[in-house]
Amino acid sequence: MDAKYKRVMIKLSGEALAGEQEFGIDPATVQQISESVKEVYVHDVEISVVVGGGNFWRGRQGFGMDKSTADYMGMLSTVLNALALQDALEQMGVPVRVQTAIEMKEIAEPYIKRKAMRHLEKRRVVIFAAGTGNPFFTTDTTAALRAAEIDADIILLAKNVDAVYDSDPAINPNAQKFDHLSYLDVINKGLKVMDSTAITLCMDNDIPILVFGLDNPDNILRAVNGEQIGTLIEGGN
Ligand code: GTP
Repeated sequence: MDAKYKRVMIKLSGEALAGEQEFGIDPATVQQISESVKEVYVHDVEISVVVGGGNFWRGRQGFGMDKSTADYMGMLSTVLNALALQDALEQMGVPVRVQTAIEMKEIAEPYIKRKAMRHLEKRRVVIFAAGTGNPFFTTDTTAALRAAEIDADIILLAKNVDAVYDSDPAINPNAQKFDHLSYLDVINKGLKVMDSTAITLCMDNDIPILVFGLDNPDNILRAVNGEQIGTLIEGGN
């Protein structure tokens, strides 16, 4: 089976790692996600990953805090998740390199684009941690930025819903599901897929985004094979 996409950016939310417990790291869930990543890895796909940190801390939780400080706390929480994923993948025999946007050399490599590219070429999964290293930017924007830098074919945006809808399907049973959207559709319709900084970065750099659910563990592989799942965001109007 030949994968449609050869180099992918997988964006995982921090919450995805928490499983049912909704906080912290659920080892069984991390194991399951890592197995899904491995399934793609063995199909000769070059894999990069950006993981959020919302299972530990969200920048907007910092009520009354200095926004930058709250965001730095969020960046640190992504490092915890990156290390957990690295460990789980390596235990399955998948080589992984973690690179952090804020230097913490005792823990992981600093982010160096050329080194990241070399790791990918050498068949290592690269996990980008600590966001962009800047406050006021989300991990979705990190995924868009790193995808542009490493020339990824697509961003696989794994969510806890199976696609993009015109309203919340958990609240509105008549919510309409979109199979395909343009970047401008997402912005103009105010759809809460990614923040606008991330979407415009993808638009300006022609990086398609596939939004899909992690409910089915095979979905990452199906996405990489170009199966029609979730919502594909690309192109103009
Ligand atoms: P090649 O240069 O392609 O051989 O890549 P490599 O990652 O195998 O070699 P390198 O000697 O750069 O790294 C060996 C190990 O040390 C890998 O697990 C790296 O992730 C890790 N490593 C490299 N640089 C750093 C760093 O600055 N800090 C930490 N903590 N680990 C590092």
